[in-house]
Amino acid sequence: MIGKIPIILKFKKILHIPVLLNEVLEWLAPEAGFVYIDGTLGMGGHSRAILEKTNGLADLIGIDRDLKSLEIARQNLQNYSNCQFLHGRFSQIPQLINKKQLSKPVGGVLLDLGISSFQLDSPVYGLSFKDKNINLDMRLDPWCTASAEKILNDWPEKKLADLFWDIADYKPARKLAKAIVQNRPLKTIGEFVEICNLMHKNPQSKIQSATLPFMALRIAVNEEMQELEKGLNAIIDWLEPSAKLLVISFHSGEDRIVKNVFKNSSNLENLIKKPLMPTPAEIRKNSRSRSAKLRVAVKIL
Ligand SMILES: C[S@@+](CC[C@H](N)C(=O)[O-])C[C@H]1O[C@@H](n2cnc3c(N)ncnc32)[C@H](O)[C@@H]1O
Repeated sequence: MIGKIPIILKFKKILHIPVLLNEVLEWLAPEAGFVYIDGTLGMGGHSRAILEKTNGLADLIGIDRDLKSLEIARQNLQNYSNCQFLHGRFSQIPQLINKKQLSKPVGGVLLDLGISSFQLDSPVYGLSFKDKNINLDMRLDPWCTASAEKILNDWPEKKLADLFWDIADYKPARKLAKAIVQNRPLKTIGEFVEICNLMHKNPQSKIQSATLPFMALRIAVNEEMQELEKGLNAIIDWLEPSAKLLVISFHSGEDRIVKNVFKNSSNLENLIKKPLMPTPAEIRKNSRSRSAKLRVAVKIL
């Protein structure tokens, strides 16, 4: 029995339940004769649905900053021949994709922000506060300028406090920043979690106490906010009129950027006034979807 386990694992597909899938398909409305770009390919869940909906008559280009995710998506989508896989950030779409070399016009770009359940659960990235003995890293790609360890040990106290407050609305942000500075140098996830736990007297709120600082730290390491603003502007400039842009965000800081860029761009028309959110049934099936917001726009000029 034990000898069989690796074989099962080898063939087990690593999947991620795509969030707001029906809404994405309804608003992207993928059609034959176009190429669709998934700028956050992940495990390829949304991409697969786009390919299935268009019966092999549309092309798909999947981009991910994380090489491991790209490889898993390549395996998950191996039955589709009309897919291309590119390693990079979505802000690099204009450099990664030469529109003149595409055989079909671009129908739309999808961005499903953040990280996948695979990345959160895999100890390789150090993104979960459960992996206590792992070194603080959190980098999803080789272009990140600083690891989690470097940020925690090098940033001034005020900059750390602002990070936890601005990105995660973390109430004891100042207290946490002070404790980090007092306990330097930090090396492992466990050391950081212990400091986060000191912020809360009630043991029941301990899990919560590490969740928000972890999210803020991951966002800083991966420069997610800068990447989002830069990426949206680069994609909007690059898209041809009539192509759509769909963005799924997972926290208020991200959604604020999407909302403002969409509102302030004279080249875009918002197709929906208020962002779409998951139904109670979707949240019951996939709790990760609970904070998702989908905004949809079309390039007009
Ligand atoms: C929420 S997951 C996407 C899941 C995917 N929609 C699916 O259904 O399987 C987000 C993915 O986007 C990637 N990612 C995040 N920011 C990125 C960026 N700026 N450029 C490229 N990929 C990015 C992450 O590495 C992760 O694999």
